[in-house]
Amino acid sequence: RAQTPFKNEPLTDFSKEENRRAQEAALAQVKSELGQKYPLIIGNKKITEGETFASINPANPDQVLGYFIKGTAEQAKEAVGVAAEAFKTWKKVPATERAAYLFKAADIIRERKFYFNAWMIYEVSKTWVEADADTAEAIDFLEYYARQMLKLAAPQDLPTTPGEDNELVYIPLGVGAVIPPWNFPCAIALGMTSAAIVAGNTVVLKPASTAPAIAYQFVRVFEEIGLPAGVINYLTGSGAAIGDTLVDDPRTRFVSFTGSREVGERIYERAAKVAQGQIWLKRSVLEMGGKDAVVVDETADLDAAADGIVSSAFGFQGQKCSAGSRAIVVEQVYDQVLEKVLERAKKLTVGDVTQDPTVNLGAVIDEKAKKKILEYIEIGKKEGRLVLGGGEKGPGYFIEPTIIADVDRNARIAQEEIFGPVLAFIKAKDFADAIDIANSTEYGLTGSLYTQDQERIEQAKEEFHVGNLYFNRKCTGALVGVHPFGGFNMSGTDSKAGGPDYLLLFTQAKAISTKK
Ligand code: SER
Repeated sequence: RAQTPFKNEPLTDFSKEENRRAQEAALAQVKSELGQKYPLIIGNKKITEGETFASINPANPDQVLGYFIKGTAEQAKEAVGVAAEAFKTWKKVPATERAAYLFKAADIIRERKFYFNAWMIYEVSKTWVEADADTAEAIDFLEYYARQMLKLAAPQDLPTTPGEDNELVYIPLGVGAVIPPWNFPCAIALGMTSAAIVAGNTVVLKPASTAPAIAYQFVRVFEEIGLPAGVINYLTGSGAAIGDTLVDDPRTRFVSFTGSREVGERIYERAAKVAQGQIWLKRSVLEMGGKDAVVVDETADLDAAADGIVSSAFGFQGQKCSAGSRAIVVEQVYDQVLEKVLERAKKLTVGDVTQDPTVNLGAVIDEKAKKKILEYIEIGKKEGRLVLGGGEKGPGYFIEPTIIADVDRNARIAQEEIFGPVLAFIKAKDFADAIDIANSTEYGLTGSLYTQDQERIEQAKEEFHVGNLYFNRKCTGALVGVHPFGGFNMSGTDSKAGGPDYLLLFTQAKAISTKK
C-alpha cells in the first residue's frame, strides 16, 4: 500500500441512480440512529455521566442528532494525563505500524462514505456534493499522512565527516490538544488528528460543539481497528469549559487548532505562557480565518470568472475560511461581471438538504451565526448596494445568497470575516489597484485571479500575498497533496495541511552523530 503513489479519492457522481440510492439509504440509516447519547472517551473509559448538550440539524433545529457529554475541566486534565501515559508506549510503535492504522481507517471510511456524508448532511447542513468532498478529503488526509510519515521515518543520512556517521531522525512531540472546526467536521478534524498520531503523538480531541457526531464516527473507526486506548481521547464540551484547560496544562506539548481568529489568538497567547512544572515551549499550529478575494481583470473569460465567484462565495453557505467573500473587478468589466454573477446566483436555492437533495445551499451552522450574518447584511446595506438576497427563513438557520455591490475596500464587510453567504463586490481602477485591494486586509489565506495576461499572472505570483493562490479557477476546494493549505498574516501559522511539510510540525528532529 505504502508503495503505491498517493492519489486523491474520486468524488461520487450523484447523477448515477445507484449513488443517489446509496446516499438516500445512508440518510435513512442515520435518521434511524438520531437521538442517541454519546460518551466521552478517555483512555479505555467511556463516560456517560454528566450534563449533556444536543447536536442538532441546523436546517431543522428541533431535530436532535445526538446528546453529548459536557466535559469538565477535571475530565480535560484527566484526558491529558491519560494521553501522556499512552505516549510512553505509542511513541515506540514503529512508524510503519502507525501508518497502517491510517490505511485501515481510510479503507473503512471509504466503505462507509455515504454514511459519513449523511452525518454531515444532517449535522452541518452540507449539500450532498459538499459532504462527499469532505469525506473524500478525510480519506485523502489518511492516505497522504500515512505515506508522508513513512518518508519521514526513513533514515535521513547527513554528510559523513571523517571518522563519524551522522543521521537525522524525527521524533514525536508528546500530547497534543486537537481543536478542529465544524465546517470541515470530517476532513479537517480527522486530518489534524491523524497527522498528530501518525507522527507518534497522542491527542485529546475536542470536536466543535456543533459537530461532535461526525468526529465520534471516525473515533469509533479507530477503536474498531484496535488503535491502542489513550492515543485518541475524545472530549466533548464547550470551549470555555475545557478548551483553556487543555491548552494551559503543562503536560500539553502542542496545540493544533483550526477555527476563528478570536479563539486562535487566545490559544496563541495562553500556549505561550510557561506553566509551573512545564519543561518545554508549547508549539501552536493555528489556522484561522480569511477575507479571500477573487480578482477579475478586463482580459478574463468573464463567464468562467462569474462561475468561479459564485462557487467561491456560496459553496457551503460561504462557511469556509477559503471562501471568496470579495469579488474585486476592474472597472472596465465591473458591470458585466456583476450582471453575470447575479444571473447565476439568482438561480441558487436554499433549503433543508435532508429533505431536498437538489438545494444549492443548506442552513448556516447555528442561531448565533445566523444572527451575526444578518447583522453584517444590515451593515452591508449601509456600506453598499444590496443587489441580491438579504433575506432569511426560519425556523432553520437559512440565509439567502446575498450580494452587496459598490463596496469600499475599507468597508467593514470588505475587511471582516462574515463566514456566511455574503459577497462584497468591489470596483478597482485597474489591475494594479485590484491587487492592492486584494492585499489590503489583515488576512492572507486564499486568492484567485482571472486573467488571460501572462505578465499579470507572473506579477500576481509575486505580489498577491496569500498562502493559496489560484489562477482562472475558484479559490476554494484545495486538494490534499496537490494544494497544501494554509495562510499568511492573521490567517494563521501557514501550516500547509495536506502538504509535504505538515508532519514536521508534529515532530522534532534529533541529530545523531557516532564516532567510528
Ligand atoms: N481546504 C478548504 C478549501 O480549500 C478550506 O478549509 O476550501
